[in-house]
Amino acid sequence: MGIDFRVADLSLHSAGRHQIRLAEHEMPGLMSLRTEFAESQPLAGARIAGSLHMTVQTAVLIETLVALGAQVRWASCNIFSTQDEAAAAVVVGSGTPENPAGVPVFAWKNESIEDYWWTAEQILTWPGAAEDPELGPNLILDDGGDATMLVHLGAQYEAAGAVPGPGAAESHEHGIVLGTLRATLAKDPAKFTRIAGRILGVSEETTTGVLRLNQMAAAGTLRFPAINVNDSVTKSKFDNKYGIRHSLPDGIMRATDVLIGGKVVVICGYGDVGKGAAEAMRGQGARVIVTEIDPICALQAAMDGHQVARLESVLARGDIFVTTTGGKDIITAAHMQGMKNKAIVGNVGHFDDEIDMAGLARVPGVRKVEIKPQVHEWVLDAGTGAERSIIVLSEGRLLNLGNATGHPSFVMSNSFTNQVIAQIELFTKAGTGAYANGVHVLPKILDEKVARLHLAALGVELTVLSPAQAAYLGLDAAGPYKPETYRY
Ligand code: NAI
Repeated sequence: MGIDFRVADLSLHSAGRHQIRLAEHEMPGLMSLRTEFAESQPLAGARIAGSLHMTVQTAVLIETLVALGAQVRWASCNIFSTQDEAAAAVVVGSGTPENPAGVPVFAWKNESIEDYWWTAEQILTWPGAAEDPELGPNLILDDGGDATMLVHLGAQYEAAGAVPGPGAAESHEHGIVLGTLRATLAKDPAKFTRIAGRILGVSEETTTGVLRLNQMAAAGTLRFPAINVNDSVTKSKFDNKYGIRHSLPDGIMRATDVLIGGKVVVICGYGDVGKGAAEAMRGQGARVIVTEIDPICALQAAMDGHQVARLESVLARGDIFVTTTGGKDIITAAHMQGMKNKAIVGNVGHFDDEIDMAGLARVPGVRKVEIKPQVHEWVLDAGTGAERSIIVLSEGRLLNLGNATGHPSFVMSNSFTNQVIAQIELFTKAGTGAYANGVHVLPKILDEKVARLHLAALGVELTVLSPAQAAYLGLDAAGPYKPETYRY
């Protein structure tokens, strides 16, 4: 029987396969897990619902999970982030476009919000699972927490016997989620309860998804164990920082082709992503201004040589504004009206709440001109005849994935090696008490293993502790080397 899927165009598969092949060379962590676990197949019996940007790098992740024995269904966690050629290659697998033999993927670049929530439901809808729940998903691999949220909300409304009416929706997108759940509940009133009862755990990729998991755990509503992959050191101190240092300028350049050197770039937030963003902009010769709410991060930015200011004080000076906070309403419509002509505005935080796009659309007399897909000029002259507009990238969504192709393979190999190890941990240790219902990070020795797997490719020579040195420091020469409180 063929596989079900929905992607843009299967004929792109060989272009995708070439890119995947080159990415494999740059993803030594994932490739060494394939070798290490080729025989033992630790994920045999795992049925993974994956929701993470459907890029070339993610294709290598998916095919690693499969190589370790898992069955997988996949969607993207952002409407603009899919690389259609990668999605096609994963679906075709070892088959042909006429007879695909790979993994069911439901993702294409430029989905509508309705499409997006449809794809999210598809990864949770496994063939035969309505009749036999054993055939449904037993693990979630999430980025931003939307798949996890869908299962939790669905189960919550099923327990209540109804989904709130359209009037209860807090936003356009929330209304679409409620509509999706209402339709499901009408057809299958216990679908998400069944799924929630069988999920052994979720591994979460990013800061924003971890925030949601921690909120659910604190409220006592989390239904299964979670591994916070983001806070592996080899994830957030690498992907969030060095990844964005590469993919932020890539996105701005592909979108606008402006020279960054000499410009004033305002970076909102100086966490891991903000630090990488600021370093990249300075590397291009920009003058960087940082905004922060946290005195520690504000002081770090100052010590790193950046001006730290409130956004309101620097609106008229900035040429490029980038939000990196994971918060909401960071750049409001009023802020955008105060910016200089042709200022560029973009976001690399997970959700599109950081820039008030709905507010911008409501500014009297505003006009939106499409320069090209994911690049829009918003004309704010209100009919005055004065030439004034700003450029908004990816409609306020992740611009490094919307306007470019996200982080490069080598850094994603670190993140995704953590993901695969987290899935193995959740699956093979289910029921042992190793991961109770709650939010966990991987043991430091595994974090160090991820780094170790990436050293040889960069020609790194690691110094080895002598037994006497190890005894002096009170360490095992094989690690772990640092206490949990160490900050790197
Ligand atoms: P973080 O918590 O390390 O940094 C966020 C910073 O923003 C904090 O220092 C916080 O104090 C600051 N902040 C919060 N509200 C603010 C406000 N109103 N004004 C100024 N600063 C404010 O988080 P991290 O890891 O840097 O992640 C940030 C966001 O980026 C998250 O949504 C995360 O999911 C996302 N992310 C995106 C990636 C991408 O490829 N685009 C990659 C990794 C993470």
